[in-house]
Formats: sequence, structure tokens, C-alpha cells
Amino acid sequence: MALGLQLRQQVLAGLLLCLCARRWAEAGKVLVVPMEGSHWLSMREAVWELHARGHQAVVVALEVNLHIKAEDFFTTKTYTVPYTRDEFDFLGKTHIQLLFERAHFLTMLLKTMASLKNVTLLFARSCEALLYNKDLIRDLNASSFDVVLTDPVHPCGAVLAKYLSIPSVFFLRQIPCDLDVEGTACPNPFSYVPRLLTRNPDHMTFFQRVKNMLYPLALKYICLVTFTPYARMASELLQREVSLVEILASGSVWLFRRDFVMDYPRPITPNMVFIGGINCANKKPLSQVYTAAFVQSVFPVEHILLVKEILKTFHHTAN
Ligand SMILES: *[C@@H]1O[C@H](CO)[C@@H](O)[C@H](O)[C@H]1NC(C)=O
Ligand SMILES: *[C@@H]1O[C@H](CO)[C@@H](O)[C@H](O)[C@H]1NC(C)=O
Repeated sequence: MALGLQLRQQVLAGLLLCLCARRWAEAGKVLVVPMEGSHWLSMREAVWELHARGHQAVVVALEVNLHIKAEDFFTTKTYTVPYTRDEFDFLGKTHIQLLFERAHFLTMLLKTMASLKNVTLLFARSCEALLYNKDLIRDLNASSFDVVLTDPVHPCGAVLAKYLSIPSVFFLRQIPCDLDVEGTACPNPFSYVPRLLTRNPDHMTFFQRVKNMLYPLALKYICLVTFTPYARMASELLQREVSLVEILASGSVWLFRRDFVMDYPRPITPNMVFIGGINCANKKPLSQVYTAAFVQSVFPVEHILLVKEILKTFHHTAN
């Protein structure tokens, strides 16, 4: 009798556990706001994996875009932008052509800045087209997503997540001007963590440390131009003053496409996860033509490398 009661209690406990666990085992609804260009290629892998595990993904994309095509493992919601395919292609092409130009460092820098300004404007306008699209926002809000997956280098998805009050997971390589570091509130000592473009190692001499402090100042202006529109839009939508860092700080998990095999070790916080290998999920051998062009472009002039790195960092439409 006592044994029977005990058994029944155990079965009941088991059932209760199943009922509770069911809630967690249910498929989640993921709103994906990808970054244009090559960024999508690795995020696509993550979306595929989410689908394979029974989750439902909705990808929000510009009608005019580079790589984001409709596929059977996610639903696409597109929105229109105030520019044509020709304008988009022209801007992308001029931006990429800059990579191969040879000119004086200052000329290159000015040209890069002008082009970056154009690209920034285009991205900000496309973000505006998304955030102020009343029908789309109503539709997304009504869909009760569990999480937003987005690349915060284009902070539109992060702003959208905040606007819809949905937790966000960030998927990125990095954000210039240490905005990722500020967003994660991660320790970032100048003396040990090499800054972008300095080519400093993690063991620095005195002068390298000085360089490490000065280089970020030069990038600040670019970041100001690039990211101000998003803080403005967020402030307008949330009807209070919001900084970009506050938007970024709401990221629950940061998935970094990095690996300490390639990057110097540095302090990290528990919500930073390194998934560098995902970039190699879809590898194809390089053609000889490409390899030769790459080798040629890497070796001759230092400043081309620098400009390339700036472009790569911002990654707007490049590659
Ligand atoms: C920036 O855009 C304007 C207008 O579309 C264009 O005339 C100009 O050539 C562009 N500049 C660069 C550097 O792409
Ligand atoms: C989303 O829907 C909720 C509940 O209907 C509403 O309170 C909220 O204002 C909506 N948010 C947006 C951004 O429309």
C-alpha cells in the first residue's frame, strides 16, 4: 500500500516535471534582423541550425539587398526602401572600387570618409524605412517573438528589439569604437588590449600604449557619423533620450565570430560567447586569380591595408 502510494507520487512528480519541461521544449519564435552583405552568410548557418532544432525564424530584409534570398527554412518579410537597385549597386560598387585605388593616404582617407558617409546614409534610411513602417511593426509586434537575433554593427535590429521589448541575441565580429565592449561592460585596459588598426600586440611598449590610446580618437568621428542616426531613431520611438550604448547593453547574449587563435586574449564577460568557427561552415577553395590579387594587394602599400581594414570593420556592402 505504502509502496503503491510512493509509486503514484513518483509518477505524479514525473508528469509534473514533463509538463513544466514542455514549456521549455516548445519551439521558439526568432526574429532575425541581419546585416547586409557577407555578414548574412554566417548568420544564415545559425538560422538553418535553429530551424533544424524546430525553431521558427522570420527574417526581416530589405527588398533590395545583396545576399538575403528567400529559402525554405525561414519566412522572409521584406520592406521597401526609398532607393532603387541601381542606386544600391552603384554605391556598393564605388565603395568596393575604393579598395583597389592607389592614391595618397590623405586622398584615400577623404574618399573613404565620403563613401562611408554615403553608405551610412543609405543604411540609416533603410533602418528608418523599417522602424517607421507602421504595418510591419504592428505585424511583428503581434507575432510575439521570443528573441531577436541581429548583428549590432548595423544597430537597427537592436533598436527594433528594444522598441518591441523583445530580448536580443547579438551575432557579430565586432563594433568599431569599442561599442561592443561598452555594451557588454567588459574590462578593456589600454595597456593590454590592442585597439583596432594599431597592429599592437597584447604586450606593449610605452610608445605602443600611447598609440593604443591615440588611434581610437581618430575613429571616434567616423563612429559619430555612422551611429548617431540610430540613437536619434531610438530616442524618437521610445520617447526618451536613449544612447546607443544603452540599446546595446540590453543584449542578453553576445555571440562573437572571433577566436583566440586569431585574436589576442582579452578579458570577457559571461554573456560573451566565442563562435569564430562558424565563419568556416561553408568553405570553398580560393581560385588562383583571387589568391594572386589578394597577395598583390596585401604587400605593396601600407595605407591601402589601413583603408581596407577600416572598410572591413564597417563591412557595409563590402565583400
Ligand atoms: C555620394 O552620393 C552622391 C549622390 O548619390 C554621389 O554623387 C557621390 O558620387 C557619392 N560619393 C561617393 C564617394 O560615393
Ligand atoms: C505592441 O503591443 C502591445 C500590446 O498590444 C502594445 O502595448 C505596445 O505598445 C505595442 N508596441 C509597439 C511598438 O507597437
